[in-house]
Amino acid sequence: MTILVTGGTGYIGSHTAVELIERGYEVIIADNLSNSSESVLDRIEEITGVKPKFYLIDLTEREPTEKIFEENKIDAVIHFAGLKAVGESWQKPALYYRNNITSSVVLAEVMAEHGCKKLIFSSSATVYGEPKSVPISEDFPLSTTNPYGTTKLMIEKIYTDLATSDKEWNITLLRYFNPIGAHKSGLIGENPNGIPNNLMPYIVKVAAGELYQLSVFGNDYPTPDGTGVRDYIHVTDLALGHVASIEKMTEPGVHIFNLGTGKGYSVLEIVNAFEKVNGVKVPYVITARRPGDIPMCYANPDKAKSELGWETKLGLEDMCRSAWGYAVNKLKK
Ligand SMILES: NC(=O)c1ccc[n+]([C@@H]2O[C@H](COP(=O)([O-])OP(=O)(O)OC[C@H]3O[C@@H](n4cnc5c(N)ncnc54)[C@H](O)[C@@H]3O)[C@@H](O)[C@H]2O)c1
Repeated sequence: MTILVTGGTGYIGSHTAVELIERGYEVIIADNLSNSSESVLDRIEEITGVKPKFYLIDLTEREPTEKIFEENKIDAVIHFAGLKAVGESWQKPALYYRNNITSSVVLAEVMAEHGCKKLIFSSSATVYGEPKSVPISEDFPLSTTNPYGTTKLMIEKIYTDLATSDKEWNITLLRYFNPIGAHKSGLIGENPNGIPNNLMPYIVKVAAGELYQLSVFGNDYPTPDGTGVRDYIHVTDLALGHVASIEKMTEPGVHIFNLGTGKGYSVLEIVNAFEKVNGVKVPYVITARRPGDIPMCYANPDKAKSELGWETKLGLEDMCRSAWGYAVNKLKK
């Protein structure tokens, strides 16, 4: 079975490519390298012994996207490609709408033209907006608090409309919670350009001495230690959620799953665990709450467990150890 992985040189896409290749799938990667590097293909080869076929293309462009389908018989697509920084999406909303939505529409049109109607889309817990309670189930009301989140919600809607109009489409919308950590080899991991937006890459840079200290946004939330609580999921567990989804793509229609652990950790719990597991210091300072941040967000992952037979296996220690392992490996090079 041949799977096109868009955004496959990126963080989650590269981990998913590894897990797919290790299970005998043929993987083709398409990426414009706007937030990743071609060297990831060599790292995937080091881990799996297979270097995936690669198309350096921008998925907003129809012709190069068509070429992939003309040159290969693609059975299913996992669509990771997209811009993902919440803060940047406020500064450049048009870029986010054009990139994320146009690429998703072009991809779906080209897929349909070539009779490939199995699609898995990277959505996000951000589509739950400010949830009224936790844990969050798939049937909670949807809303967004930033342009990035709106692109995810709009693409969910577009893909749902496609499946309504054409009963051959088989579409899975995976709503990720907070992926962190890296592959156990230390060869692939999260590699953000510039100052990171997310907690774990920031912690790693502070521990490595590249950034002076971590800013913890608010310690007066209604949570056990006052800092924000999120559902952190090991990126390898998340990758395996995609493998489970591919294996269960039998029924046409739209299938929606939360991919999270069902357990929340606070910012300070993550900092403490990281320091303890890795024997390093992460200096931090408490600052004001960040506008738009919610106190608590964690998944109800029961649907993925019962319907996909998938659940997370790796804990917070693995997440912290592997994130640092990847960083130390990079520093050595
Ligand atoms: N990392 C997270 O915390 C998180 C949480 C929820 C959802 N997601 C979603 O999961 C997906 C993957 O996230 P990630 O963390 O691996 O991000 P990433 O930036 O590491 O990977 C995305 C990849 O897509 C590529 N890309 C972007 N626009 C493209 C285009 N027009 N054409 C071709 N390639 C393009 C980038 O170069 C990058 O390699 C994204 O859609 C993201 O929104 C991520």
